[in-house]
Amino acid sequence: MREISHELEKIKKSALYREYKSIEGAQGPYIQIENQTYLSFCSNNYLGLANHPFIINAVIKAVNQYGWGAGASRLVSGNMVLHEKLEYEISRLKNRNSTIIFPTGYMANVGTICALAGKEDLIICDKLNHASIIDGCRLSGATFRVYPHCDLIKLEKILKNSTHFRRKLIVTDTVFSMDGDLAPLPDIVTIARNHHAMIMVDEAHGTGVFGKNGTGVVEHFGLHSEINIVIGTLSKAIGSLGGFVSGDTDLINYLRNRARTFIYTTALPPAVCAASIAGIELLRKDHTLRESLWRNTHYLKDRLKAFDLKIIPSESPIIPIIIGNARKALEVSEFLFKRGILIPAIRPPTVPDESSRLRITIMATHTEDELEKLLDILKDIQYL
Ligand SMILES: Cc1ncc(COP(=O)(O)O)c(C=O)c1O
Repeated sequence: MREISHELEKIKKSALYREYKSIEGAQGPYIQIENQTYLSFCSNNYLGLANHPFIINAVIKAVNQYGWGAGASRLVSGNMVLHEKLEYEISRLKNRNSTIIFPTGYMANVGTICALAGKEDLIICDKLNHASIIDGCRLSGATFRVYPHCDLIKLEKILKNSTHFRRKLIVTDTVFSMDGDLAPLPDIVTIARNHHAMIMVDEAHGTGVFGKNGTGVVEHFGLHSEINIVIGTLSKAIGSLGGFVSGDTDLINYLRNRARTFIYTTALPPAVCAASIAGIELLRKDHTLRESLWRNTHYLKDRLKAFDLKIIPSESPIIPIIIGNARKALEVSEFLFKRGILIPAIRPPTVPDESSRLRITIMATHTEDELEKLLDILKDIQYL
């Protein structure tokens, strides 16, 4: 135990200790902490669905009909009609034959990668892929190679030198969660085709945000028929909980039989599925949510151009302001908090050393006045 305390001290000394705030009400542009109101600019609740009345009603109805817990894993007795309905709706949204849901996006990535790749296989990853992809790769036992962020020359070089593997799997986020930029999917598709590799994409931050119908970055680039495996989560723009994998029927049936994070875990509560089904319905019916999200995103990015801040030129509602040093990032975040704005400092190991940042995320439900309030306070951090 002494070693653990010692490790903890080291984490604290390097300004990398993590703590959370206790939110007292619902998620929205405003949140309550210790009876104070703060403007939140750090949630993945892009469309404001985490507290939408249509979804809340769907959940209440589902709880009345199905109760709360699923009671067992899907393959034992936990498979309820709402799980299947949600899988059907995700397949429709993603334009795929079949879908399997997991309790979280993290579990979808780990379970899928481990089921698809083993000792005889090669997985190639972008350096900035999400931790759940990296963990899946490590656990799979496959040969695992990483290319520098979006470096297609390196990606192709790895493939050229890797002809002896049974299966080659390129895995990439479509929207990189900490930088907010997009993977160069059309080029990745060409490279994969030339080297007989499969492509798996993680649409965690693309689903509900990109594409004419909110399908994601795959739709944005018009690549539905080129991507083998689409992973996503219902916990961000859909405002709910749960991970999913969409693809060919054989692939999905294979995962139902082989993905350990699907087989050996209790099914999602049915009312959680009802929330996701309602979220997808809203996404389909109400395009104004996405329009507001993008209007707010463009507004803030345009106004930030005049600021003397190191802003990563992202392509999404994720706007990272690089501070650099972890301690400094904490100080800046605290400065904002004292002025009523919640944007926690993102520090290593979530981001590379000396690239600690404020990761602003925009929501459809922010008003122009709220964006102006943020801008007013951000003006002052230029001189900290
Ligand atoms: C790119 C990416 N993939 C996967 C996940 C995991 O999703 P979930 O929160 O549903 O576990 C996240 C976020 O947490 C993410 O940002």
